[in-house]
Amino acid sequence: MGLVTRMGSNQREISGFLGFYLVFLLMSGLSCGNENDIACLRSIKESLQDPNNILNSSWNFSNSTKGFICSFTGIDCWAPNEDRVLTIRLSNMGLRGSFPLGIYNCSNLQHLDLSSNELDGVIPANVSKIMPYVTSVVLSSNRFSGEIPENLANCSYLNVIQLDHNKFSGQIPLELGQLSRLKRFTVANNLLVGQVPRFNSTIDVDFSNNPGLCGPSLSPCQKSSGKSNTGVIVAAAVSGVTVGAIGVGLAMFFCARRVPVKKKEEDPEGNKWAKSIKGIKKIKVSLFENSISKMRLSDLMKATDNFSKHNIIGEGRMGTIYKARLDDGSMYMIKRLQDTQHSEEEFVSEMATLGSVKHRDLVPLIGFCLAGKEKLLVYKYMKNGTLYDQLHQGEDGCSMEWPTRLKIAIGAARGLAWLHHNCNPRIIHRNISSKCILLDSDFEPKISDFGLARLMNPIDTHLSTFVNGEFGDIGYVAPEYSRTLVATPKGDVYSFGTVLLELVTGERPNEVTKAPESFKGTLVDWVIELTKNSNLKYAIDKSLVGKGVDHEISQIFKVARNCVSLNPKERPSMFEVYQLLRAIGERYHFSTDAEIMLQMDTGDDDIQELIVAQEAKSDQ
Ligand SMILES: *[C@@H]1O[C@H](CO)[C@@H](O)[C@H](O)[C@H]1NC(C)=O
Ligand SMILES: *[C@@H]1O[C@H](CO)[C@@H](O)[C@H](O)[C@H]1NC(C)=O
Ligand SMILES: *[C@@H]1O[C@H](CO)[C@@H](O)[C@H](O)[C@H]1NC(C)=O
Ligand SMILES: *[C@@H]1O[C@H](CO)[C@@H](O)[C@H](O)[C@H]1NC(C)=O
Ligand SMILES: *[C@@H]1O[C@H](CO)[C@@H](O)[C@H](O)[C@H]1NC(C)=O
Ligand SMILES: *[C@@H]1O[C@H](CO)[C@@H](O)[C@H](O)[C@H]1NC(C)=O
Ligand SMILES: *[C@@H]1O[C@H](CO)[C@@H](O)[C@H](O)[C@H]1NC(C)=O
Repeated sequence: MGLVTRMGSNQREISGFLGFYLVFLLMSGLSCGNENDIACLRSIKESLQDPNNILNSSWNFSNSTKGFICSFTGIDCWAPNEDRVLTIRLSNMGLRGSFPLGIYNCSNLQHLDLSSNELDGVIPANVSKIMPYVTSVVLSSNRFSGEIPENLANCSYLNVIQLDHNKFSGQIPLELGQLSRLKRFTVANNLLVGQVPRFNSTIDVDFSNNPGLCGPSLSPCQKSSGKSNTGVIVAAAVSGVTVGAIGVGLAMFFCARRVPVKKKEEDPEGNKWAKSIKGIKKIKVSLFENSISKMRLSDLMKATDNFSKHNIIGEGRMGTIYKARLDDGSMYMIKRLQDTQHSEEEFVSEMATLGSVKHRDLVPLIGFCLAGKEKLLVYKYMKNGTLYDQLHQGEDGCSMEWPTRLKIAIGAARGLAWLHHNCNPRIIHRNISSKCILLDSDFEPKISDFGLARLMNPIDTHLSTFVNGEFGDIGYVAPEYSRTLVATPKGDVYSFGTVLLELVTGERPNEVTKAPESFKGTLVDWVIELTKNSNLKYAIDKSLVGKGVDHEISQIFKVARNCVSLNPKERPSMFEVYQLLRAIGERYHFSTDAEIMLQMDTGDDDIQELIVAQEAKSDQ
């Protein structure tokens, strides 16, 4: 939408192939703003009869304050100020009518509960088109009929299917057995017959009170009873193992996509790989900005001395970063991505999306290059390197002044809040640390590596693998991740809280030099312990003591402590964190709305407008 317009003016020169991808993606993928969810609820209200007047009185569309639909009866949004519907729960409201097809426009819907109404008709045969990311479908106690559509098996994120107490007939599609995330499946009290799908024995099923269901744990099916008996035995044997190893099994599942990670500080193969791509040096670098003169792979190779290890300026979980100086003196950072298992097309389309994600607090992706197996990303050069190095590399501690640190905290929070709240699908970073916050020549922070852990969308928010099956850098990882294996915005908030603690203590997140030797925990553990003993002052970086900023520091501690709450629900959203930090740093006048408006000339217009609008609103 807005983005397409912007790309239109910026990208005129892009080659036909890439241009096609860009437009295609931007129309189908990333967008900022969500009018569709409003149309969705409007259509649901119109399509259902509501004899108790519940929707009629609560779902009032004449007040269109941002986020207004979130206060409707039965609606939960992804965030309170965002018109993006997460849950529709219209249980026991006496509603009549058929399955509301308008749900299609609630494109981020995860939970649908229409139970205990008087709805009838069939579940549409294209149900997976209507709610592709749904994780729970509860239609219990209605008058739905017809067959359960095979297509339900294509809603591959389903955890819960409850269809009990309806009039479903025919056979249960065996394909439902392929739903790998299913935890509960209830079809009691229907008119179903035939063989039931082969579900994992760990899931909670209820087949009771149907006229003719057969299969494992029910009466054996007629046609091949011998076979199904062995099936039961095998299933039982397997299930013993499965139950025992469920935790490990789950972990293995998530590690299945793991690719070997090269974790050496230096490129272990030297630049051998670079020599292997010499033959294709003429390949063009696809650029997202036409203000930059055309580049070829050969230019990148020359600019990095064939990716010599002397030019390595960073080694992250996503890959190695090289400093590149072109003949005209311009500087770039080139990231050689870790081997990914994406196809060429997937890679190109992800790049196209990332190239469109532009914000003052993000490191701009300038272009990319696919050279055989190698995937190279070209970023704008950040003169002052990583925040991590600035904080921890100095001879005797960090010399960064307090206002600089505060400016970095605010800018990084704004960038992350923008990724979380202004894009659709929202982008979870998943690997926030002081190593991915880069500093330009004015020490303005820029977040890097966003989106490399895959664009976050409802699929990912629900269950997402972590890059390379790892959770992130030690000390930064939200404690729930090892249990849930699910990346969430609140996980990013935790990691960001750790960065705040780093900024005020000058300590590394995974080893606290000031702590007594017997202390084995992380920076977060240490700060929590000191708080308990009211000793927090002791944690403050000594170069910040006595500068008249104690009050600001203690406020930052407070925000950081909230961010690293054990319970993700107690953590603030990134937008709230940004607002809090901005208020703490108000007297420094780091950024004003005017400053942000000025940025609009640089091409970030639509996105900036959104932010400005949001800031203006929250100022009231
Ligand atoms: C909806 O509510 C309004 C006022 O609350 C009422 O006038 C109207 O008749 C209701 N509509 C229906 C269809 O019940
Ligand atoms: C909807 O809200 C508007 C004001 O926000 C009010 O004038 C109107 O009566 C409301 N409609 C219903 C049906 O409650
Ligand atoms: C509109 O909705 C917002 C948020 O739900 C609420 O705060 C505000 O009072 C409403 N305005 C009117 C006129 O009903
Ligand atoms: C989705 O919303 C659009 C308007 O935004 C509307 O034209 C379309 O009919 C809706 N689709 C469904 C299935 O309701
Ligand atoms: C699903 O199928 C119904 C007809 O059963 C159709 O009206 C609707 O447009 C379809 N929706 C989508 C998203 O394909
Ligand atoms: C999902 O849909 C595709 C066609 O769109 C079909 O080939 C595939 O078998 C379906 N998968 C399941 C599990 O039903
Ligand atoms: C059942 O569990 C096994 C191993 O844990 C897994 O490979 C399989 O995909 C699961 N199947 C279903 C239907 O959940």
